[in-house]
Order: sequence, then C-alpha cells, then structure tokens
Amino acid sequence: MSEPFDLSGKVIAISGASSGFGRHFGGVLAQAGATVVLGARRKDKLAERVSEIQAQGGKAMAMPLDVREKSSITGFIDTIYSEFGQLDVIVNNAGVEAGAKTYTMIDEQDWDYVLDTNLKSAWIISKYYTEQVVAHNQGSGNIIMISSITDTRTIKGQFPYAVSKGALSRMTQVMALEAARYNIRVNALAPGYILTDVSRILLESDLAPEFVKGIPMRRFGEFDDLDGPILLLASNASKYMTGSILTVDGGHVCGSL
Ligand SMILES: NC(=O)c1ccc[n+]([C@@H]2O[C@H](COP(=O)([O-])OP(=O)(O)OC[C@H]3O[C@@H](n4cnc5c(N)ncnc54)[C@H](OP(=O)(O)O)[C@@H]3O)[C@@H](O)[C@H]2O)c1
Repeated sequence: MSEPFDLSGKVIAISGASSGFGRHFGGVLAQAGATVVLGARRKDKLAERVSEIQAQGGKAMAMPLDVREKSSITGFIDTIYSEFGQLDVIVNNAGVEAGAKTYTMIDEQDWDYVLDTNLKSAWIISKYYTEQVVAHNQGSGNIIMISSITDTRTIKGQFPYAVSKGALSRMTQVMALEAARYNIRVNALAPGYILTDVSRILLESDLAPEFVKGIPMRRFGEFDDLDGPILLLASNASKYMTGSILTVDGGHVCGSL
C-alpha cells in the first residue's frame, strides 16, 4: 500500500523552504525517499534544515533562491539539472502577507510585494521548469502550488494575500489544462490556518478564539495534517490528478463564520 507514495529516485525542489510549511515538507518528502532541494533567501536556516534531514538519513541540498528575481529562479533550476539531470517535482511554496490591510490601506509596494512573491513567481518558475522538462526530454513533470483557503473564503484585511491565492488556484487549473501536452501535472494544496510567520498576525490575535469556532473541527491545523496531502500530490499516487485544488482545513470552507 505504501508503494504509490514512495518517492525514491525523485528530485523535488521546494521554494520557501527555510521556515514553516516548506521547511516541514522538506523533511516529509525526504523521508519518503526523495532528494530534496531547499530554496529560500535565508541561507543559514536552509543549511540548518539540510543538516537535520541528513542526520535522519535523508538526501537534501540547500540553494539560495529569491523568487522575485528571475535570474535567481533560472539559476536555481539550472543548478538542479546540472547536479541531478532531472527535476521531478517543483513545489511553489514561497509566500508572504502584507499585514492586516484592506484594499484601501495597501499601497503599490504592498501589492507588488505580495503578488510578485505569491503569484508571479509561481508562473515564472513553472514556465522555466516546463521549458527544462522539455529540453531535457524528461517525459513528465509535476508542479504543486501552495495556495490557501483564502482563494475562496477570506475575512476583511487580507486583501492582497487573498487576491494572490485566488489567482494562484485559478492559475493551477488553467496551467493544468495547458501543461497536459507536456505530460506535466499541476495541482494545488489549499491549507486552512496553521501557525507560521504568515498566519501569526491572525492566529495570535484576540480574534483567534472566535475565529476557530468557524472551523467545524474546532482547531487550527498542525504541520503533520499536511503530510498525507503533500505526499499524495508529489507521488504517483496522484497520477490521474491534474488541476485539482486539495483543501485541507478541518472543514473551514464549509462553515459560515
Ligand atoms: N500558515 C498558514 O496558515 C497558511 C495557510 C495556507 C497557505 N499558506 C501558504 O504556505 C506557504 C508557506 O508559508 P508559511 O505559512 O509556511 O510561512 P513562512 O514560515 O513565513 O514561510 C514562508 C517562506 O517563504 C519564503 N519566501 C518569502 N519570500 C521569498 C522570496 N522572495 N524568495 C524565496 N523565498 C521566499 C521564506 O523564506 P526566506 O524569507 O528565507 O526567503 C519562507 O521560507 C505560503 O505560500 C503561504 O501563503 C500558509
């Protein structure tokens, strides 16, 4: 039964792997047998995570990556191909928020910061990755977007973030349609709220106890709630899935609060 989820022999790159979800995914995917390439700007955090994964017997490598810089993206992917000759899965996980701001409160800098990091980068990375899958005759590829339930359901004050995730989920579906000709699957994971630097502003606020009442399972998520879903999307267990938005939220999007 575990075989479809086995990632032995696969090379998987994760953007934004220096903290939070990306850091966690690195360990989960390495444990399932993948060689993981961790990318982000904070090199010390990446190096620390690589050591931890290696100490547990996993295969991992750190590489600096700034997803707002096109040359950094192409350098990141080029280095992976010259090192391993393949890149089986890319996880577009890097993401930021702009603080608790409505559309009237943000300025153009906030808009560009959030939209460039959360949305534009996912397109640039996926486009360059697709070109490399074709150029290296890889035969297939797999793109995983880390979206959010704010793609469809949000509260006031998450303006640019929710807009970026709404577009990222739509990008997943449109890209899946267009990437099928290259045998590249494109899916998204849409988690509910889990405590990290991105969600801290809400989850550690006075609103949190009331907010959690809107979740049918009456709790925020934990990192390990995402283990099964990320393994599903990264592995052959999801071989007939493309254009799917996998919601993992304790039922939050079903609620009314
Ligand atoms: N936490 C939640 O409740 C929640 C729910 C749904 C979706 N998400 C999504 O999950 C993803 C990960 O966020 P998180 O919650 O784990 O927060 P996090 O701990 O703050 O992680 C964000 C990661 O993105 C990286 N990053 C930011 N800007 C970058 C850039 N320009 N280039 C490269 N990497 C960059 C950061 O690394 P460096 O600063 O080192 O570059 C960091 O590793 C995001 O897309 C977020 O929107 C989170």
